[in-house]
Amino acid sequence: MPISPRLGVLAATFSSTLLLAACSSNSTTSQETAATTAPADSAATGTSASAMPTSASFGKTADGTEIQLFTLANAKGMKASISTYGGTLTSLLVPDKDGKMSDVILGFDKAAGYLSPEFKKSNPYFGALIGRYGNRIAKGKFTIDGKPYQVGINNNGNSLHGGTVGFNQKVWTAKPGTSAEGETLTLTYLSKDGEEGYPGNLNVTVVYTLTADNALKIDYTATTDKATPVNLTNHAYFNLALGQSKDVLAHQVTIPADRYTVVDASLIPTGELKPVKGTPFDFTSPHAIGERIAQVPGGYDHNWALNQATGQHSAATVYEPTTGRTMEVTTDEPGVQFYTGNFLDGSLKGKDGVVYGKHAGFCLETQHFPDSPNQAKFPNTILKPGETYRTTTSYTFGVRK
Ligand code: GLA
Repeated sequence: MPISPRLGVLAATFSSTLLLAACSSNSTTSQETAATTAPADSAATGTSASAMPTSASFGKTADGTEIQLFTLANAKGMKASISTYGGTLTSLLVPDKDGKMSDVILGFDKAAGYLSPEFKKSNPYFGALIGRYGNRIAKGKFTIDGKPYQVGINNNGNSLHGGTVGFNQKVWTAKPGTSAEGETLTLTYLSKDGEEGYPGNLNVTVVYTLTADNALKIDYTATTDKATPVNLTNHAYFNLALGQSKDVLAHQVTIPADRYTVVDASLIPTGELKPVKGTPFDFTSPHAIGERIAQVPGGYDHNWALNQATGQHSAATVYEPTTGRTMEVTTDEPGVQFYTGNFLDGSLKGKDGVVYGKHAGFCLETQHFPDSPNQAKFPNTILKPGETYRTTTSYTFGVRK
């Protein structure tokens, strides 16, 4: 029996909390305006004293399409910059324990960095919005209502992060605004029927909100006119000591998950959910990333099955000892892909000339499980016409002194 976690349809064939619906009641709350610079009367939205996000040119795609960079700010000095190319989070200024603001996101100063041949070759998806399907679909094949589909193959014979040209390489339409919570950027993209082989016209809206209490919240919604797999996420690489530490191995991570999805050699889930207890995958209490990483061939690149899969719940907590920075990731998704930048090889030089070597950043990609369209026991990822896909993830920053 299919299960529709996001749609509030509860049905399940396997155990416990994973089966409960990750049904978010959150909906798009931003009050948009079409302006691209701060209007004097932004308070006319009636909900917030926030200023509007600012915008600047970020460059052009190869075909000459303009790429804009929007910067959201809050009263505490935190700033988030988002490019219309890929809806990419390009920088995130966050205070440390002494109140010093610095960037905690891997990326580039200009669009050219994301468009370069070196970037496309290694394709680390820095900060990008990922779709139509986050993580892998085995051999790019799935069947819906008896009809087989083949989507773009781009990773060892499998489809990764939407295929050859995923949402991370699209120029999104942007509207800056404000909501009761803070400055917002609403991004929209229409993924046409057949794009990368996926069925249905998928209308996607993603709202970034920078809140007054130092959270970057991402609300995703989508509707379709044919049944299609959907699994949206953001691929930000964090290093809470960026510029001070070339790798993230000292970061202490907690993931409230008793099980993870076991994968085969090409990183496709076998279907087994294995207990983390007694393994290097046990992050139910804090562990430094580097403590046991040598025991995991290649490094961490796995999906943890979160203990709580309904409503907003913690996906991970991170603490960086030298800067005192903390990050709490909350989501309504049942899984999180914890990836430790294993494929970064020093071939990319980012902001401030920093070279991104192995483990220079880590990702916490909130998501439904990889290859769910082919795994009947995993929570459902098929969105049907008439339904609305909704999911929300927040990254909240603080300090521990
Ligand atoms: C995800 C995948 C990894 C890798 C990165 C991008 O985290 O699971 O295997 O492809 O994206 O480099």
